Amino acid sequence: MKVYIETERLILREILPTDVEGMFELDSNTEVHKYLGRKPIQTKQQAADAIQFIRKQYRDHGIGRFATVEKSSREFIGWSGLKFNTGEKEILNDKKDFYDIGYRFMPRYWGKGYATESSLAILDYGFKELNLELIVGAAEIENVASNKILQKIGLKYINDFPFEDKIASWYELKREDYETMS
Ligand SMILES: CC(C)(COP(=O)(O)OP(=O)(O)OC[C@H]1O[C@@H](n2cnc3c(N)ncnc32)[C@H](O)[C@@H]1OP(=O)(O)O)[C@@H](O)C(=O)NCCC(=O)NCCS
Repeated sequence: MKVYIETERLILREILPTDVEGMFELDSNTEVHKYLGRKPIQTKQQAADAIQFIRKQYRDHGIGRFATVEKSSREFIGWSGLKFNTGEKEILNDKKDFYDIGYRFMPRYWGKGYATESSLAILDYGFKELNLELIVGAAEIENVASNKILQKIGLKYINDFPFEDKIASWYELKREDYETMS
């Protein structure tokens, strides 16, 4: 998938099989998975499978999470971006067939504003390049950072819903509202 989005400090590009070491470091980290159902991966094969799943989404839906690279170090820091959720893996908030904004970075890159920076670029891409009508976001209520980011980039709180054995909040942003924001 040909994509190259540049922000002040980040590059978002298609995820590649060669990102497997970074994906393994990211998804085997228990801290990273604290609010993601607490199921960190155990093997590099699982990381390779996750990359293939994302690459299949590029082919099937024309979108998927993007590898996120720190410009200053050229390091893979994790992923951010949109995912078309068909509900085949899990149903969130009783919805399916929606575009969800998300982000997942290695802890050493947290607290620098990177998730906010990449998400603002992703909203722009989703509404202007992909012409989406609606972008949604969801985060466990205890995931303060993620809830803060979704609100900060302009998504509106809609409702809470059960997620695994926790509660998560659901947010949405319509294109018409995005256009009045920017
Ligand atoms: C969520 C995540 C992507 C945030 O990345 P980040 O680059 O550190 O986020 P940002 O720096 O852009 O912004 C985070 C905001 O939350 C705040 N924040 C961060 N951690 C916090 C915490 N533990 N408690 C309260 N606020 C927190 C920051 O201060 C910042 O707010 P501010 O701009 O008002 O100062 C990162 O923590 C992560 O990868 N977590 C694991 C995966 C995950 O949970 N993904 C989201 C699933 S819904």
